[in-house]
Amino acid sequence: MKLCFLVEENYRHDGMPVEVIRRLHAWGHQVDVLRPGGSLHRMTEVVSAGSHDAWVLKTVSGGPGLTLLEAAASAGMTTVNDARSIRGVRDKALAAAIGRSRGLPMPTTYAAAKPELLAEIPESDYPLVVKPADGSSGRAVHLLAAPDRLAALLPELRGEGLLIAQPYVPNAGVDIKVYCVGDDFYATERRSPLHPDRPHRERRVPLSREVAALAAQVGAVYGLDLYGLDVLLGPDGPVVVDVNDFPSFRQVPDAASRVANAVLALAAGGRPTAAVTTPVPVAAGDTL
Ligand SMILES: Nc1ncnc2c1ncn2[C@@H]1O[C@H](COP(=O)(O)OP(=O)(O)O)[C@@H](O)[C@H]1O
Ligand SMILES: [Mg+2]
Repeated sequence: MKLCFLVEENYRHDGMPVEVIRRLHAWGHQVDVLRPGGSLHRMTEVVSAGSHDAWVLKTVSGGPGLTLLEAAASAGMTTVNDARSIRGVRDKALAAAIGRSRGLPMPTTYAAAKPELLAEIPESDYPLVVKPADGSSGRAVHLLAAPDRLAALLPELRGEGLLIAQPYVPNAGVDIKVYCVGDDFYATERRSPLHPDRPHRERRVPLSREVAALAAQVGAVYGLDLYGLDVLLGPDGPVVVDVNDFPSFRQVPDAASRVANAVLALAAGGRPTAAVTTPVPVAAGDTL
């Protein structure tokens, strides 16, 4: 197979994409690697139809990686994950709207383009978690005990782009992180950045039937193939607070081989991407 991996500079030495690429090479596949954040792109010629069996994205939010993947999808190529599905989770405001409308247990979520607007959130929704809509790795996640704490945080929140705010889901200080690859699910436990007092190490834990069902539902709702989710065990059951395309798969046994196999299966399946589905023709005079 011929694959093109989009890998951000941050992940250049990261075991996950690098080991997957090595594994694919060792199995005789051709893998081209593009560094979206570190190269000048001649966008008008960046993709040519049929150049690869699949394009694979392992980048941070907000970089040019997703734009390149969407370009590949629009040229009819298979992408891992589906480009539109990635958009649906990388914007946490959009992820919350999609998730709740499809019945996922997610916190009530507000979005505000200016941090001052968060002052309109009712006191009954406090304690409040505020985070950037395009955040990752726990960056700029804040817990506000009461509305009077907002003013002091405003300077820091400016410049973070679109913000989201959610009522704090009471939890024991650890996330259940579920990693989904192929048809397999793996669970780990990891300290919540809002509970720095807890032990740091991420470790495998058994996956309950309830959380496994939730993980499968997340994949179906967003249309993701390789993904992870952060679950908090709240007083009313598991709550999804974050969904990630192509996560670290940390603690997943032989993760590189599993991910490489999943990529090959998806590339071979030739799953049509959202952008190449045939549009319904609109007859003259139809109103949209
Ligand atoms: N509504 C919430 N209630 C309680 N804790 C939360 C909430 N939202 C996020 N957290 C905590 O903050 C962490 C980081 O938030 P998350 O949405 O996963 O952002 P990131 O993309 O930075 O991982 C979560 O893993 C969880 O521990
Ligand atoms: Mg997270």
